Amino acid sequence: MNDAHRPQWHFTAARNWINDPNGLIQVDGVYHLFYQYNPNGAFWGTMHWGHATSQDLVHWAHAPIAIAPDANGPDADGCFSGVIVVDDDVSTMIYTGVRGGEELACIARSDRDLVMWEKDPRNPVIRGLPDGVDATIFRDHTVWRDGDRWTMGIGSGVDGLGAVLSYASSNLVDWQYRGPLVEEPVELNPEGVAISTGWECPDFFALGDRHVLVACEWDGDPIAVSSWTGRFDGDRFHPTRKDRIDGGRSFYAPQSFRAEDGRRIQFGWLRENRSAEDQLPAGWSGAMTLPRELWLDRDGRLCSRPAAEVELLRGRHIPLVPNDDIVLPFDGRSVEIAGSVARDQVMELAVRVDLDTNERTVMRFAPSVGRVHVRMGQSTANPTAQQDDLVMSVADDADRWDVRVFVDRSAIEVFVNDRHALAVRAYPTGRADGIRLAVDGRDAIAPFTIWEMR
Ligand code: FRU
Repeated sequence: MNDAHRPQWHFTAARNWINDPNGLIQVDGVYHLFYQYNPNGAFWGTMHWGHATSQDLVHWAHAPIAIAPDANGPDADGCFSGVIVVDDDVSTMIYTGVRGGEELACIARSDRDLVMWEKDPRNPVIRGLPDGVDATIFRDHTVWRDGDRWTMGIGSGVDGLGAVLSYASSNLVDWQYRGPLVEEPVELNPEGVAISTGWECPDFFALGDRHVLVACEWDGDPIAVSSWTGRFDGDRFHPTRKDRIDGGRSFYAPQSFRAEDGRRIQFGWLRENRSAEDQLPAGWSGAMTLPRELWLDRDGRLCSRPAAEVELLRGRHIPLVPNDDIVLPFDGRSVEIAGSVARDQVMELAVRVDLDTNERTVMRFAPSVGRVHVRMGQSTANPTAQQDDLVMSVADDADRWDVRVFVDRSAIEVFVNDRHALAVRAYPTGRADGIRLAVDGRDAIAPFTIWEMR
């Protein structure tokens, strides 16, 4: 709690490095969050699966490490990302075992508590790339069941395309290659050059009357997260549109699951945007986003909004008056701010404001130009933290924009109209507990509210 940058109600491990959320599932009412975890320090390496449980998606209890690399196993160099499915009373984890240059599908089993895991002695259950397929990436899993058949998709890149390779099985152990579930061009930069070599962390699921794929473009480093919406014919997925699902650069490797009440809930990894030299002595690195509920709008765009449970964290609140010097009766480093901006208004919200160090992270919401602009230039006096601005296009012709901004020390999440999400990291050197709100435009100013988050 004394670490000025450490999020307090975004999930973090007790200590050390975390990255991707893994194995998200709700069993007998209990939510399980597993995650890529390095118990050896606040840096990436020797990947284990950490584990935490929750009754409400926002209060988490740490559980023992779920799986660790085995010196003599196919996962000797790491247990990479994957998923968990429950088949009757047997929970099965499908993950990527890494040894040397090889990344191969492995499985482990548990009961309904998901605490003690036993690896299958037949691992790896897929022994190599499909014959004749030359892939840049072959890791991370999305698994679902149709009738009595299990299907698994593996993140890949083939012939310059992003791809998900699909396999079928009746028992989660014996897998037959079925060809690509989908292949799509990777993104190009303005010069027309591919920005990635393929996809990792595929997440494929039905939503409403359509199917959605979320995948991450990777080029040795995380590049971008996109969603595709389309039709699944039982073997192949035919996307009809592609969107960015978060407008920032801190969101990566998201995974989603179907809650018992039918909602599709997603967590993403909130990466640090400061240097390794800052992360190591802090003793922790990485957080999860708030739980985000996914839904499709009329046009089939994948949208996200904070899960309703996030409101459980709200404490005291006061109205936030634009252009006033606000003295908050609670800690401005741990708040939710909500309000709406009319089409002909421009709203500027500065968070993590410090009048002594002159630090501030400024978000400008301009519905008439369809844009959210985050000015990072004064976000921190620390020269090694990321300070490039962020711009998110919001194609939304609604009369008003409903804006919700969550500030949890260094972790900031912005939602517009329950559709568009933007994650930001800010690391001011001062206490930076101030908030400033400014609104221009001729309309009457609608009230904003600021809540203390507990
Ligand atoms: C994504 C990723 C995955 C891999 C894991 C390793 O961030 O690179 O592709 O399984 O992290 O930690």
